[in-house]
Amino acid sequence: MHEKIVGIMGAMPEEIIGVVKLLFNRQEVVIGRRTYFTGTINRIKTVVVFSRWGKVAAATTVSTLILTFNITQLIFTGVAGAINDALKIGDIVIAKRLVQHDMDARPLMAQFEIPLLGKIYVDCDEQAVNIAQQAVNDLLDNKQLHNIISSTELALFNITKPKFMMGDIASGDQFISNSNNKNAILKNLPAVLCVEMEGAAVAQVCFEYDIPFIIVRTISDAADEQSHINFPLFISTISSRYAIEIIKNIYGNAKFFLLF
Ligand code: ADE
Repeated sequence: MHEKIVGIMGAMPEEIIGVVKLLFNRQEVVIGRRTYFTGTINRIKTVVVFSRWGKVAAATTVSTLILTFNITQLIFTGVAGAINDALKIGDIVIAKRLVQHDMDARPLMAQFEIPLLGKIYVDCDEQAVNIAQQAVNDLLDNKQLHNIISSTELALFNITKPKFMMGDIASGDQFISNSNNKNAILKNLPAVLCVEMEGAAVAQVCFEYDIPFIIVRTISDAADEQSHINFPLFISTISSRYAIEIIKNIYGNAKFFLLF
């Protein structure tokens, strides 16, 4: 059996800084303009890195984690814009499937189909999704949430009782900040819950190398004309703290030790 080595990627430096602080025996390696932080969390070998933004950045980073650091599983955390109206700022989405909303090789193949893989969606591992679900559930349990974020800070974003949903996440090399683009995604991919810029690339690389992965996204905006407003404040106040707690909860789950 392979030694377990977990890769943790974040799309935001603020989230990664918090997770890096959890590493015991921390060391740094710079490859391809990324700093990879190695060490252990709860005795599990772990590599933490800020992926940068977009599908290419994410794909190259996860490839380095797999080929250079020999990770056996991956956790990705970040923020996303809501596509499904039921999602509010501060809610959390756990991916069950990932799709690239800007992949279009028509008429050679169907819209959204990944060339030569012959599939539109990449599925997440069910056991890994269950562990993520438990971690998010524990965070959103009122006591844990209020221990890490004050009511005043939550009120800044009108967050009262955040919830989580599981389902499809769409990725593309576009920050969605107008209703026309948002509605186009919703029309073509009606089951999509939220949109971001890395997840489907990470999923494709992990699928190709047989690495189980978890993708967890906090809703930072409604992918509309207001999506840029308060973005940095949201990340420093809310999503970076969510990320640390979710990682701690995943590592604290005994089932995570047994997985893979
Ligand atoms: N990440 C967070 N919000 C986003 C948006 N509106 N579009 C793409 N990626 C995002």
